[in-house]
Amino acid sequence: MRLFTLSLALLSVLLCSGHESRLERLDNGRARLTVDGSPYFIIGGETGNSMASCPGDVSSVMDKAERHAYNTVLIPMAWELIEPREGQWDFTSVDTIIGEATRRGLKIVPLWFGAWKNSMSCYAPEWVKRDVKRFPRAMTASGKPLEIVSTFSPEVYEADSRAFRALLSHIAATDTAGTVIMIQIENEIGMLEDARDHSPLAEKAYRKGVPQQLTDYLNQYSSQLHPVLASRLHEAGGKTSGSWEEVFGPGIYTDEIFQAWAYALYVEKLAREARKVFPTMPLYVNAAMNSRGRIPGQYPSAGPLAHLKDIWHAAAPTLDILAPDLYDSGFTSWVAAYALPDNPLFVPEIKCGRENTVQAYYALGEHGAIGLSPFAYNLRPESEIPYQHEGNSLLKSLFPLLQSDYYSSLPTAGFYFDQDSTSRTITRGDIAIKASHFFTLPWDPRATDGTRWPVAGGLLLPLSPEEFIVAGSGIVLTFEPVTATADTSASPALGEDGFLLEGGDKTSSQSRWHGKRIGLASVEEVKVSPDGSLKRVRTLNGDETHQGRHVRIGVDNFQILRVKLYKY
Ligand code: DGJ
Repeated sequence: MRLFTLSLALLSVLLCSGHESRLERLDNGRARLTVDGSPYFIIGGETGNSMASCPGDVSSVMDKAERHAYNTVLIPMAWELIEPREGQWDFTSVDTIIGEATRRGLKIVPLWFGAWKNSMSCYAPEWVKRDVKRFPRAMTASGKPLEIVSTFSPEVYEADSRAFRALLSHIAATDTAGTVIMIQIENEIGMLEDARDHSPLAEKAYRKGVPQQLTDYLNQYSSQLHPVLASRLHEAGGKTSGSWEEVFGPGIYTDEIFQAWAYALYVEKLAREARKVFPTMPLYVNAAMNSRGRIPGQYPSAGPLAHLKDIWHAAAPTLDILAPDLYDSGFTSWVAAYALPDNPLFVPEIKCGRENTVQAYYALGEHGAIGLSPFAYNLRPESEIPYQHEGNSLLKSLFPLLQSDYYSSLPTAGFYFDQDSTSRTITRGDIAIKASHFFTLPWDPRATDGTRWPVAGGLLLPLSPEEFIVAGSGIVLTFEPVTATADTSASPALGEDGFLLEGGDKTSSQSRWHGKRIGLASVEEVKVSPDGSLKRVRTLNGDETHQGRHVRIGVDNFQILRVKLYKY
């Protein structure tokens, strides 16, 4: 076991690596992550929780990350491992992680498993766990102590923050390759069994009432508040000072707000410590969702949830992102709730499944996300890896096109389809683009033989008003002038050969055609070179574009297509 002293680690911070990751604001209002000056999207995977403690596991999760074509691994750095005895540091696990990642050219997002992990304090070292006097526990209203250290204890903060600082200082001193690009502070913070802490320290804080710092913030940003919070304030009478119940109304949702304020104040102090070591590195917190009809305390109450974003922003302005961990259905709605003008989208955890790569394309295309990372990718069946690898490799190759000088003024878009949501029409300039699930073409037997349609989707990146990059898996796109879309809905269904599927044209419209139509000038499958230039792999036409009627990518693979349109 290698033991370091904190003072040595702090001294070595002076050895600066010269690498930099940061969040930039773009003209289009979106945020963009850059690493060493280049746009970066985290095509990530998060490892299972217990890998960091075993060098063999670390090596194998890094190998598996490479086989997924991930560029980034999210991996715990655990308090119990780095400070097994108070004030004595063991960074063996950290060095192994960073070393194994650096060797493979992977980036790392350390997850600080400090005072809280999934609400609980299970990653606090044994010397913290055993000393309940010095490190008091949160309690339910009935006085039941929980294995959750109290947010209100200065001793808890002192010990947790000292370890966090030691970790970051050690990383700054040793990560000369710039492998670490972003930091997660704690993990899925939130109270369980009750909406807030009722320990004596917590009760004392509650009795002080709502701090002016919070009411001032809510007044200043009153027009941008989350609708749930805005209506709570309104229903409580719009008071600008008073007790928690006077300002926010009675009930457990007010308990949740009080607790969120406390968690966020605590995290803000950690974030400021991180800023001192890494002045630009993005900092985020992750949240377990308030799903399945649960109430605060049934779900981890007071975490960085969308309906609490203003409380978190008011108390923790140094944080860059409140990030959702997604394990429920409804992917597009969940990400929309966290992709906000004041909160860039980053999905640090999502249920591991075949759809992960398509989810990444969608998050980037639709919301300009910072990244997406399936949880416990190390458990993904081998048979599913090649599809992820292909999609992730192509997505990575698109990065040079994310430079703002490649973008046209038209925004990117994302597509995400399954059997219940099969198509979507968007407009870009004067063109209506209808994107659909590949199986809306009835030609593939799996479309109609009872097979559950796989998730399909991708992204659209306009290069100019009549030229687009379409990338993804399992999608078919058609293009019409905006003004003509109503008429085309009467088009008869055609078979794979382009002839009527059956019989005569029973659906043809009686109305006269007005205006122009849009044709495919050319469709090319391309590869994107590191300098952003497009290299043709093959020109698609004939059967592959339904004789010029559509652009498509099958469900079993990923492609990047360059589509040039013309009007006639
Ligand atoms: C969310 C947590 O953040 C992860 O560490 C892990 O416990 C998963 N849940 C398990 O589903």
